[in-house]
Amino acid sequence: MVVKNIAVLFSGSGSNLQAILEKVHGKIFKGIKINVALLICNNPDAKGIERAKKFGLETVVINHKDFSNREEFDRAVVDEIGKFKIDLTVLAGFMRILTPVFTDNIKAINLHPSILPLFKGAHAINDSFYSDMQVGGVSVHWVSSELDSGQIIAQKTFARKDKTLKEWEEKIHKIEHKLLPKTIIEILTKESDA
Ligand code: GRF
Repeated sequence: MVVKNIAVLFSGSGSNLQAILEKVHGKIFKGIKINVALLICNNPDAKGIERAKKFGLETVVINHKDFSNREEFDRAVVDEIGKFKIDLTVLAGFMRILTPVFTDNIKAINLHPSILPLFKGAHAINDSFYSDMQVGGVSVHWVSSELDSGQIIAQKTFARKDKTLKEWEEKIHKIEHKLLPKTIIEILTKESDA
């Protein structure tokens, strides 16, 4: 059986990591088994580390505070990924700006809580909520050297209606937990069609 390995990078709560572990890890799609082979987190206190343990998975903590610049941190992350045969790296709530040390070497996708190219950056949920937009949404895109700007792979939108900020945020997360696993599966099963 063909096995494809993914690395997941996260920074905090890890609810999207959990969705990947529940819906993708160890499962077979079109004859391809997808394994989460590596977890990297830059924050030693991230709740996601505990979530992963419940699935029997350990997380490699690479604390960005231990490095004097972004490039050195990125080099450590790239080297760790290089120790494994990783087919796709997934940024699931990984809240670090990446340099070309990473983006030139790693094939990665990123999850972003807005309809890109609108509302790039770390405050997309608030920025989109407080905008005039009557729809919100979620994007998955290829990682490039420019923040939140690589080619868009998948998007899903929803109507504002009368949502409060809390409801807006909950709706985004609900969509994320479906869209990211679905996109990972599509990428890894499509590649083998070729
Ligand atoms: C998600 O909303 C993601 O789009 C953003 O950070 C959040 C991470 O949530 N980049 P979690 O850690 O997966 O719960």
